[in-house]
Amino acid sequence: MPNLVGAAPRTLRVFGIAGSLRAGSYNRALLRAARALAPPGLEIAIFDGLREIPPYDADVDAAGEPAPVAALRRAIREADALLVATPEYNYGVPGVLKNVIDWASRPAGRAALRRKAAGILGASTGASGTMRAQLALRQSFNFTETYAMLRPEVFIAHAGEKFDAAGELTGEATRDHLRQFLAAFEAWARQFAAPAS
Ligand code: FNR
Repeated sequence: MPNLVGAAPRTLRVFGIAGSLRAGSYNRALLRAARALAPPGLEIAIFDGLREIPPYDADVDAAGEPAPVAALRRAIREADALLVATPEYNYGVPGVLKNVIDWASRPAGRAALRRKAAGILGASTGASGTMRAQLALRQSFNFTETYAMLRPEVFIAHAGEKFDAAGELTGEATRDHLRQFLAAFEAWARQFAAPAS
């Protein structure tokens, strides 16, 4: 039997989704910053198939999930936790992100999102840094039984001033806050993660 005393906990696999199709998306840049600043116990993969996800259609879903949706659902299922960076559109979650949530919320009762740990963050060019969009996302996660961490929160306001031309998150205070968020997120996600087999 292996001696596990003092063994490091296993690395948690985190699936990151940025709710923007824009090439220069601040939210994708925020996920990249999270990946770079994550503690060693978190490994963050960033979803790159958002554009391929079709609009949700229950008839299509019933006829057999489209391949990009199958890949999305599998990636969420196989991850220990989700990290969602949402823009704010008209005080809400952008349609493309809500669409992902809708696909991942089915089939009801055994959806990929069900009982999955999640972290929410967001960046917007506005003054409230996606506060309202994050609340809207939490409302969806209530229904999907997705365990979204409550605090700390990350609201990157006036995003144009927080990222440089290369999409790097600048400002040591902001980067430190993100590090603190990620440390708390690791502890949060470990509460729900399956033990190493
Ligand atoms: C916005 N934006 C925005 N910002 C905000 O803080 N509150 C809002 O309600 C809105 N509404 C809104 C609607 C629409 C249709 C667009 C296109 C934009 C600005 C938004 O935060 C900004 O475009 C971000 O840069 C979007 O995120 P990404 O694409 O950079 O990740």
